Amino acid sequence: MVDRAGLFLPWFILVKMSILGPYSFAGKMKIVEEPNTFGLNNPFLAQGSRLQPKVTPGPVSGPAHLRRLAGKCFSYIESTYKYEFCPFHNITQHEQSFRWNAYSGILGIWQEWEIVNNTFLAMWMREGDACGNKNRQTKVILTCGGSSKLAQVSEPTTCVYSLSFETPLVCHPHSLLVYPTLSDKLQIEWDEIEQARYENLITEQGYNNLLRDIFEDAGFLKSQKVKEKPDITTTSKTHDSLQKCNEVGSLERIQNHS
Ligand SMILES: *[C@@H]1O[C@H](CO)[C@@H](O)[C@H](O)[C@H]1NC(C)=O
Ligand SMILES: *[C@@H]1O[C@H](CO)[C@@H](O)[C@H](O)[C@H]1NC(C)=O
Repeated sequence: MVDRAGLFLPWFILVKMSILGPYSFAGKMKIVEEPNTFGLNNPFLAQGSRLQPKVTPGPVSGPAHLRRLAGKCFSYIESTYKYEFCPFHNITQHEQSFRWNAYSGILGIWQEWEIVNNTFLAMWMREGDACGNKNRQTKVILTCGGSSKLAQVSEPTTCVYSLSFETPLVCHPHSLLVYPTLSDKLQIEWDEIEQARYENLITEQGYNNLLRDIFEDAGFLKSQKVKEKPDITTTSKTHDSLQKCNEVGSLERIQNHS
């Protein structure tokens, strides 16, 4: 695990190494003028002014024991890039270079969970920096590991990144179950949906839609009802069909309740 302070350490050491030793006196003179250009050219130090998030992160949600990750950041270096993942906040990418225009960008801002088989699977960070006519986005998959760290990065589709985040916090087989994280009210709704499914009163599609409504109500998924343009690039096939189902499901729910 590397905290934010850890990011700055290597640079600090570099500066120190250049000013200490036999030329320490000359070095001390230099340190006065060096930070000016060093700071401007440094992709990390300049990060605050360079990276402009498009949206504010969604609320912290999901399993209570994962909330302790909020406010922390984890970095991972692969080839010439450093990735920095701040759970429930953002993910950024920084080119490891002293070039004045070294790339530094936002790969996504925390938006919603991906839920598969009633289990939290991944965190979606969306609305990152523009990439052609879409925005970069990143899926961070949670996997069991001995310590909390980023483990892998890939770009399965252009500007859609996939990282895995290893943590001991998800090793227990029940640690990512959705049901126990719900309020009593939503658990009761879920029970009713299970019963309706058991009695064949709803279709599988209707069942999935009603569940999706619960996950939206709980704040785990972003509501698709207010979304004006479905973003094809962000959604898998299942996501698309879920959305279609959602309209049907909502109808059913309205009819049932009226
Ligand atoms: C990313 O999240 C961290 C941790 O919450 C925060 O300090 C930083 O300002 C964020 N960066 C951007 C570009 O949003
Ligand atoms: C879904 O979870 C159940 C039990 O939690 C398991 O038996 C089943 O194999 C899982 N299905 C898939 C597709 O992962």
